[in-house]
Amino acid sequence: AGKSTIGELRPLSTSEENPEGVNFGKGVMESTISITVVGASGDLAKKKIFPALFALYYEGFLPKHFTVFGYARSKMTDEELRTMVSKTLTCRIDQRENCGDKMEQFLKRCFYHSGQYNSEENFAELDKKLREKEVGKVPNRLFYLSIPPNIFVDVVRCASYSASSSTGWTRVIVEKPFGRDSESSAELTRCLKLYLNEDQIFRIDHYLGKELVENLSVLRFSNLVFEPLWSRNYIRNVQFIFSEDFGTEGRGGYFDSYGIIRDIMQNHLLQILALFAMETPVSLDAEDIRNEKVKVLRSMRPLQLDDVITGQYKGHMKGGKAYPAYTDDPTVPNDSLTATFAAAALFIDNARWDGVPFLMKAGKALHKRGAEIRVQFRHVPGNLYKRTFGTDLDKATNELVIRVQPDETIYLKINNKIPGLGMRLDRSNLDLHYAARYPREIPDAYERLLLDAIEGERRLFIRSDELDAAWALFSPLLKELEEKKIAPELYPYGSRGPVGAHYLAAKYNVRWG
Ligand code: NDP
Ligand code: BG6
Repeated sequence: AGKSTIGELRPLSTSEENPEGVNFGKGVMESTISITVVGASGDLAKKKIFPALFALYYEGFLPKHFTVFGYARSKMTDEELRTMVSKTLTCRIDQRENCGDKMEQFLKRCFYHSGQYNSEENFAELDKKLREKEVGKVPNRLFYLSIPPNIFVDVVRCASYSASSSTGWTRVIVEKPFGRDSESSAELTRCLKLYLNEDQIFRIDHYLGKELVENLSVLRFSNLVFEPLWSRNYIRNVQFIFSEDFGTEGRGGYFDSYGIIRDIMQNHLLQILALFAMETPVSLDAEDIRNEKVKVLRSMRPLQLDDVITGQYKGHMKGGKAYPAYTDDPTVPNDSLTATFAAAALFIDNARWDGVPFLMKAGKALHKRGAEIRVQFRHVPGNLYKRTFGTDLDKATNELVIRVQPDETIYLKINNKIPGLGMRLDRSNLDLHYAARYPREIPDAYERLLLDAIEGERRLFIRSDELDAAWALFSPLLKELEEKKIAPELYPYGSRGPVGAHYLAAKYNVRWG
């Protein structure tokens, strides 16, 4: 045990002022970055992290000098890691341009060290290997904690004592879940801060790296047609919808102690809501944006039990195929009350949003996969075209839909005259379909976020006060659901979810889009 903090804080002056290195008075010393994926044998590392690193390398976004180390308990040689990683790399970017060669070159920069997560000695061995690769350069180190949360602090402690950079910067990307409620999240933050400064901690919410989520602020703040409408004066309600057409297959053990509210709503959907509803930030600087997000989160009312409904999927036969119930998973107790679906109404008590329902809906094992934001506008006053639309005014209101995935699209539902001699109206879409407008493939969220962490850009990462504010909204409700043992409404696998979601929306005169 040597140092008491995880290395010296160093802004990314190496790339901002001088892309190749640091000027130490006499001449320039080049810098290098060592990226250690802790939990390299796991699902997320294989599925997302290594492929994202390769995509960044392929596109020329990684610095000239870098190495990638996998770290986990499983025994593996460097070659075995490369074989494992190579199976998940794809040449999705441009198959024509010698992608295979690039893959070879990337894999040569990948290494592996096997060790325990709570062993300073094992991290010191890793440090030795890292130093060998970093020799003669200013070493910057990025650790990606792709491991279960119960070992986050052990790893940070060991990395801090034994494997932090002595002269460069050290940063740590932390994966969710960040606790289960306000208390456990605060405790995690407290423990991480024993070894790290806040600006060394990069709490990832991969939804913030999704193209259309990043685009939200651009859409709103750079188009005059939107920002003036962005308030209770014109917006009736806003919906944030997440659905998956598969269950918790393979992750039931994790899922059962978290549930859909913690897994999706408290983080992914709430983050989108905060970006959607925040006031205009002073600048695009990370702290200015995060200040506004915290402000809007703190203006929200904690969720009320009456404004939430929960569901759990049950087994279902469809087209001769049997779909399992959530509780059929052997890692899930038969009497589990964990929600795999939830819908909620949230309110922001500030001048801009007073009285506007913000509805969230998230579910697994539903009829389709998708994530979208729906903004339903108010009725046109007077409604000159009442005769055409009849009394159902809702049918005639504008709706802006931002489809985050799949098939990224932004469209605005408008009323339009059907061409011809009569005066008949229909609903049409002003449509921005990404695949048609932007033929280039959209990068994966993990690419954006890894690049930002490498560059020291914190805009898309969650600050600890944001996290506190997010938990403050959900913790009392989660506690009440658990204490009162509220039974979720069962819905068939592959359906649209429990009917209770419609009653909840109807309570606020809302129809789900
Ligand atoms: P895994 O369960 O695959 O775990 C990653 C690695 O950690 C394993 O390969 C294993 O490596 C080690 N490990 C697993 N369980 C334990 C344990 N009980 N004690 C010590 N070590 C253990 O996790 P994922 O890769 O799925 O996820 C990593 C992190 O990312 C988690 O925090 C998860 O919540 C989060 N996450 C995952 C997503 C996903 O799609 N998978 C999505 C979003 C977040 P070894 O045995 O070799 O040491
Ligand atoms: C993760 C959740 O954060 O996001 C998973 O833990 C969920 O349960 C996943 O499946 C969805 O991510 P994406 O990017 O596939 O929509």
